[in-house]
Amino acid sequence: MENKTKPSGSATLNVGDKTLELPVLSGSVGPDVIDVKSLYAQTGMFTLDPGFTSTASCESQITYIDGDNGVLLYRGYPIDQLADNSSFLETCYLLLNGELPSKAELDDYTHTITHHTMLHTQLDRFFEGYRRDAHPMAVMVGTVGALSAFYHDSTDINDPMQRMIATHRLIAKMPTIAARAYKYSVGQPFISPRNDLSYSENFLRMCFAVPAEDYEVNPVLAKAMDKIFILHADHEQNASTSTVRLAGSSGANPFACIAAGIACLWGPSHGGANEAALNMLREIGSVDRIPEFVRRAKDKNDPFRLMGFGHRVYKNYDPRAKVMQKTCHEVLDELDKRDEPLLQVAMELEKIALEDEYFVEKKLYPNIDFYSGITLNALGFPVEMYTVLFALARTVGWIAQWEEMTTDPTQRIGRPRQIYTGATERDYKPVSER
Ligand code: SDX
Repeated sequence: MENKTKPSGSATLNVGDKTLELPVLSGSVGPDVIDVKSLYAQTGMFTLDPGFTSTASCESQITYIDGDNGVLLYRGYPIDQLADNSSFLETCYLLLNGELPSKAELDDYTHTITHHTMLHTQLDRFFEGYRRDAHPMAVMVGTVGALSAFYHDSTDINDPMQRMIATHRLIAKMPTIAARAYKYSVGQPFISPRNDLSYSENFLRMCFAVPAEDYEVNPVLAKAMDKIFILHADHEQNASTSTVRLAGSSGANPFACIAAGIACLWGPSHGGANEAALNMLREIGSVDRIPEFVRRAKDKNDPFRLMGFGHRVYKNYDPRAKVMQKTCHEVLDELDKRDEPLLQVAMELEKIALEDEYFVEKKLYPNIDFYSGITLNALGFPVEMYTVLFALARTVGWIAQWEEMTTDPTQRIGRPRQIYTGATERDYKPVSER
């Protein structure tokens, strides 16, 4: 990646008897940054920013978020335009290469990904090692981490060809692995991928077909699945992407880094929120119980939070949530489930929350996870699979960010410091003296 920040002045910092001039850098859009790389060398001090609320960890040219205005761009293209006009594989090409492909480039990329969807047959035996009731995310973490034990020939991160093959394998095989995680959990036989189907058609068929009868993919549902993948594909330096970057900064192979990202995404504050949001809607159960839960969400003494609400960056409506809500209605209409009770609860909960001064004052809006659960439930996925689908889609974003970091000439191993408040040096005491 070519460094494209531009010097745009300096910030003066008075520390003790020293006055520092720290460089201010500008990007193409968004907040400027104060370059504090030299701070420790010049002052012997660190900055402190738990949660990284004011810290840029890297330069990137992939995804831009304007949280105050609810803007999300993949390589400059607004998420709603991509969701409405692109396909997931075309979006993968864009995120990885920086430009939309020509028809020939897209056909070639689609052919490549299509011909990497099969799994090494020994991986089928690998699945047999899991308990049937294992959470599918546990299966994903374990199986993706194990890919480096099956695909040794694409683990050398210094070989551009091996990095490209690993990228193709991960994007192509995630649907096959995810579908197998689901089939294994319900005790049904694995369904092999088919090369005559699109990425999302293939995934739905591998999940829901059974050998006992033919399976026709519903094109409306396949389009909705593809749109859901586009919405989840990348999201700047979120927790799981930062995990992938930090793991990659040590030189770990791409399969291990993506497994680390999956593990981080699983948390209910992050990708696990779609599963938690649907469970919350089920727990609320009916519109008349909403006030009780809104009260609990506002009660500082109650750990309950409205899952699918709030965001570290978006202090406005998550643009993905708007597209997800529209997709939710499309799926429910197609399946004749317009009167789905969970949707009634979700829409009334959204209305009440957006009018409540607690949520208004704290700028808490629905995020991508609020409507995704209802949509995935209507598509036939069990709630345990929701974060698996998030991980499937986010794999391309993780890989694009990992590739950008790996090829960044300024990249060094990530090694944060701390402010230490533990015991100062003291001598060991024999147990007889304690
Ligand atoms: C994703 O980073 C990304 O980009 C992530 C993601 C991606 O695509 O990668 O967008 C995907 O993870 C979306 C977020 C999914 N998580 C949830 O829906 C879980 C519920 N949301 C919250 O836990 C919370 O909003 C976070 C974790 C999303 C954001 O947490 P922050 O930025 O650390 O904010 P905070 O916890 O400091 O909250 C600020 C205030 C607090 O009140 P005060 O202490 O200031 O009085 O808002 C309150 C919080 O108590 N608050 C909520 C709330 N979210 C925040 N109160 C009730 N319900 C909520 N959902």
